Amino acid sequence: MPSISPSLAAAMADAVKAVGDTLERILPKSDYPESKLFESMRYSALNGGKRLRPFLVMSSARIFGVADECAQRAAAAVECVHCYSLVHDDLPAMDNSDLRRGNPTVHKKFDEATAILAGDALLTLAFEILADPRTHEDPQVRCKLIAALARAAGANGMVGGQMLDLIAETTQLDIGAITRLQRMKTGELIAFSAEAGAILGKASLQHHNALRAYAHDLGLAFQIIDDLLDAEGTEEETGKSVGRDAKAGKATFVTILGAERARNQAGLLSEQAIQHLSVFDGRAKHLEDVARFVVDRRN
Ligand code: IPE
Ligand code: IPE
Ligand code: MG
Ligand code: MG
Ligand code: MG
Repeated sequence: MPSISPSLAAAMADAVKAVGDTLERILPKSDYPESKLFESMRYSALNGGKRLRPFLVMSSARIFGVADECAQRAAAAVECVHCYSLVHDDLPAMDNSDLRRGNPTVHKKFDEATAILAGDALLTLAFEILADPRTHEDPQVRCKLIAALARAAGANGMVGGQMLDLIAETTQLDIGAITRLQRMKTGELIAFSAEAGAILGKASLQHHNALRAYAHDLGLAFQIIDDLLDAEGTEEETGKSVGRDAKAGKATFVTILGAERARNQAGLLSEQAIQHLSVFDGRAKHLEDVARFVVDRRN
């Protein structure tokens, strides 16, 4: 069983609740003719998930004494981008997955065109949330958040990584190229999440860099375990389609290193991530614990 301390479990449950409530309030709802779009956005974003990225935003914000509402709004923004990325990742043109978070994927529940539009609308909503003065009173902070999320999500981050991921289906990539792919497709959004607290809290460069370095290693460990779960996990446990990588002939850490070495590598990265938190003198306990959870998780 995954080792999860009671204090981490409680903090993760808090983040699940807080981001769920915030998204519930922010996501559009109406009986306008286009309400199918709103329903599909809500279906995607209010449908479970570990809420790891919101947890990272809220935990890093807490280190710097950021007000809860600000942290929760930034957390909701990053979760919108994450949910959009999942909706598009599951499309037939990409991974062609039928199951997500224990439910039919958005294109299965609705249709492909609606899934594309739901993703588009979740992505743009994220920036609307960050630009709102309720996210932070200082416009410079809001601009920094917007720029950092745009960078993390775009062509040099998540979307670029997704492009490389498609290329990995037909081209033999070496371990260096796969490391770069994983850091872009998953690592950058995770790095933004940990850094968001530092941006909101106007943290020192030293603290900023420590969180980035932490999340850099955590993000890679997280994706290695995701690939292991795709190879070895079940749909019951993970709540999503598995075996997609092998079916697509995709090179991953698991295909190159084998399962055991890939798991060891994730463990080493997690320990390395924790070491970067030493500058916080024990004030980042939840971030330390979640780094252990990430490599032990079963979903
Ligand atoms: C899955 O992310 C997609 C990847 C980037 C690997 P999560 O494992 O965080 O998915 P949810 O949010 O818990 O459903
Ligand atoms: C997707 O990676 C990462 C995203 C940017 C959405 P995967 O394709 O491995 O994610 P899962 O396994 O479907 O959740
Ligand atoms: Mg994919
Ligand atoms: Mg996928
Ligand atoms: Mg996967």
